[in-house]
Amino acid sequence: MEQLLDRILEDALNNARKMIELGKTATYIPELGRVNKEYLGVCICTGDGRYHVSGDSDVRFTIQSISKVIALAAALERCGFEKTFDRVGMEPSGDSFDSLVRLDLSSDYPSNPMINSGAIAIASHLSCEVSFERMLAFTKKLCMDDEITLNEKVYHSEMGHISRNKAIAYLLESKGILESSVEDSLDLYVRMCSLNVTARSLSGFGLVLASDGINPLTGERLLHSKVVQTVKSIMLTCGMYDGSGRFAVEVGVPSKSGVGGGILSVVDKRMGIGIFGPALDTKGNSIAGQHVLRELSSKMRLHMFADHVPEY
Ligand code: DON
Repeated sequence: MEQLLDRILEDALNNARKMIELGKTATYIPELGRVNKEYLGVCICTGDGRYHVSGDSDVRFTIQSISKVIALAAALERCGFEKTFDRVGMEPSGDSFDSLVRLDLSSDYPSNPMINSGAIAIASHLSCEVSFERMLAFTKKLCMDDEITLNEKVYHSEMGHISRNKAIAYLLESKGILESSVEDSLDLYVRMCSLNVTARSLSGFGLVLASDGINPLTGERLLHSKVVQTVKSIMLTCGMYDGSGRFAVEVGVPSKSGVGGGILSVVDKRMGIGIFGPALDTKGNSIAGQHVLRELSSKMRLHMFADHVPEY
C-alpha cells in the first residue's frame, strides 16, 4: 500500500509537468516573479503522521494567501464566531482575490475571509490582539514545522508594491471595518503572507485540519472543533477564489491556494496534502498543482462525495 501511494504521487507529478508551460509566476510581487517556475513538489501526510513526498517538497516558498486560513482560525479562536463574522461574510465572491468592486458598490463588508479585503479586515482585528511573533509560533505548531521563518525579501518586495492592497485597506477604513490603522493591518497581513513554508509543512497543517484540530502525533488539541469545521467549509467554498466551484466539483477536497504556488488540501479524517508549483493560472492558483490534485482525487477517491473510500 505504501509503495502504491508513492507510485501514484510520482505519476501524478510527472503527468502534471506538462501544465507548467501554460502558467506564470506572480510578477506583481517582483520577488515572486524571480522564483523558478519549473518547481513542482507534493507531500501527503497520512493519519499515522507519515510523510510521502515527490519532487520539490522541501523547497521553501512563501505561504501567501494560505496564511488567510491561519488568520481566520486565530480570529475564531480568540474572538469567537459572532464577532469574527460581524466584519466579514462567509459567501464566495466569484471575483478575483484582489477585487474591491463588490466591497465598494454592493456590500458594506468583505464577502469572505479568503479574499484580500476579508483577510485585511481580519488582520486589522488580530493586530490589536496578538503580535506577529505569536502568529508565527501558532503557524509553526499548526504546520508541525519549527523551521518556518519570515522571508524578508518577499516581505519587503510586497510592501514596496502594495498600492492595490492599500486601496482595499483605505476602502475598509472608510466603511469603519478596520480596527487598527491601515499601516498596522497591512503590516501583519503581509508578514503572514511572507512566511516560508514547504509542501511538507502544508501537508502537516492539512493533517491537523483533517484530524479535527488535533496534532495526531502528540495528541495536543490546537484548534476547537467548531473552528476547524468553519475553516474547512470556507476553504471548500472560497479557497480557490473564482475557481472554487469547478475545483469543488473536480477535486472535492477543501483547499486553499497562494500566489507563491502553494496549495493546502484537507482530506477529512484521512490526510493532509501540500503542493508547491509556482506557475499560476489566470486566477492565481498553481496550474500544475491543480492537475496533481485532480489526478490524486480520481485515483485515490479523495472527493468528499466519492461513493467508496479505499484504504490509503
Ligand atoms: O495580498 C496579496 O496579493 C498576496 N500577498 C497574497 C495573494 C494570494 O496569495 C492570492 N492567491 N492565490
